[in-house]
Amino acid sequence: MAEVTRERWTSRHFFLFAAIGSAIGLGNVWRFPYLTYEYGGGAFLIPWIIGLIVMGVPWMMMEFGMGRYFQRSAPGVFEGIGKKWEWLGWWAVFCAFLIITYYTVIMAWALRYVVSSFTVEWGMGKAGAEGAAPYFFEKVLNLSSGPGVLGGLQWPLVAGLAFTWIALFFIMFKGVRVIGRVAVWTVSIPWALLVILLIRGLTLPGAVDGLNYYLTPDFNALRNPDLWFGAFSQIAFTLSLGMAGMYAYGSFIAKKADVTNNAFITSFSNCATSFFAGFAVFSTVGFIMQALSIPIGDVATKSVGLAFVSYPVAISMMPGANALIGILFFLCLFFLGIDSAFFLAYGGVITPIRDKFGLSRVKATAIVCVIAFLIGLIFTTSGGLYWGPDILDRAVGFYGLLLTGALACIVVGWVYGAKKLREHINETSDIKVGAWWDWLLKVVVPAGLLFVVIYGGFMKDIAAPYGGYPLWAASMIWVILAVTLGLSFWLQAVKTKGPKEVS
Ligand code: PHE
Repeated sequence: MAEVTRERWTSRHFFLFAAIGSAIGLGNVWRFPYLTYEYGGGAFLIPWIIGLIVMGVPWMMMEFGMGRYFQRSAPGVFEGIGKKWEWLGWWAVFCAFLIITYYTVIMAWALRYVVSSFTVEWGMGKAGAEGAAPYFFEKVLNLSSGPGVLGGLQWPLVAGLAFTWIALFFIMFKGVRVIGRVAVWTVSIPWALLVILLIRGLTLPGAVDGLNYYLTPDFNALRNPDLWFGAFSQIAFTLSLGMAGMYAYGSFIAKKADVTNNAFITSFSNCATSFFAGFAVFSTVGFIMQALSIPIGDVATKSVGLAFVSYPVAISMMPGANALIGILFFLCLFFLGIDSAFFLAYGGVITPIRDKFGLSRVKATAIVCVIAFLIGLIFTTSGGLYWGPDILDRAVGFYGLLLTGALACIVVGWVYGAKKLREHINETSDIKVGAWWDWLLKVVVPAGLLFVVIYGGFMKDIAAPYGGYPLWAASMIWVILAVTLGLSFWLQAVKTKGPKEVS
């Protein structure tokens, strides 16, 4: 087969921005600060940094390095190791695909709130404190009584979702040359907005109390396995590994370029952002506690509750510029999400499809955008919150990510050979890694990920249906995993001529 010229990042910093942007996402703002507060404050940083260094960084070097070596996205990489492993790459592709279907719906919520911020629609002053939750659940989501009732589409969310996918199409259809340039903005803009939100947060009364909750260390917590579970699962999630995309991003790196230093820079920039975001979030949480004289337990500090209920409460009680702060905060969420979304779509799905089937970029991009949008419609219904950001997230964002990640490290470490990969990476990298890296990849990373799956996953979900849902709904987690796994083996069996197109 003739040598196919692969598309390339036009400069190292475009690649870095794209990789960093993919890692920085909603999780940095609504998951990390909460976990830190929940599990021992400052003490949580210890297992988290350990997880970052012994699991996150070696794993990222592996994904970048394998992508660069084989010059293919995830399925091509595993096919390169041995035809019988290709399914593993596809499994990650399916998980990535399903994640974007609801990740983009959360972005649509954020857009909805950008618009409603102009008039602070959820209410002003004390009324806002009571109004924010009903506004979100009743007005925006029109939440149904449970996963058995889907109800109708919420049209403003459908509009936001359509807007998001149109934007994604235009960012992606010209490939990584444009993606790299766009990423510079989608990383810088939310950072600038976080700085503004932090300054606003710190200048509010009560901020210091919030920060005390965030960081006061409780070293006894280190004995609690939940803390280690929380830290490792957060590291796995926050770096956007295990989702196929980083192999593709790595495959666009020139053969002579660095791998290890880029993995360090990406991982540390992402984690620095999380730590920083915690100050913006908890200064604001402190303000809510003081303004409403309520204990911290009554303020939603995580996930959708933080972003779409607590933050709006805080905004409505601020002395001025309420609309402006609302607009900035929700734009920040949207920008945090968008580079993770195009990473999942382009690196996680479109590139693998093109590598295997040789479709043109425009065609592959259009197909993925349209299908993902259509599936996403399910999550804009009244029952959508239960299915998308909750049940489906548990299936693919938790189990899928961790299982495919652990298996990938095992296959690369033991079948392909950690040493071979290390030598390949070291040849061109700024920082040379030693033989210790082999053991991190072969043993420590998979063991850490499997600990999370078993301790925080199977043991809980088998004892009681996930999330208190009825058994039939919670069982969909296993159905989704089984179906995507089956489809992956099917794709492995499909024979194609590989990529035809020269980009
Ligand atoms: N890292 C992203 C976040 O912290 C989430 C994500 C996971 C995005 C996997 C893409 C792939 O929000």
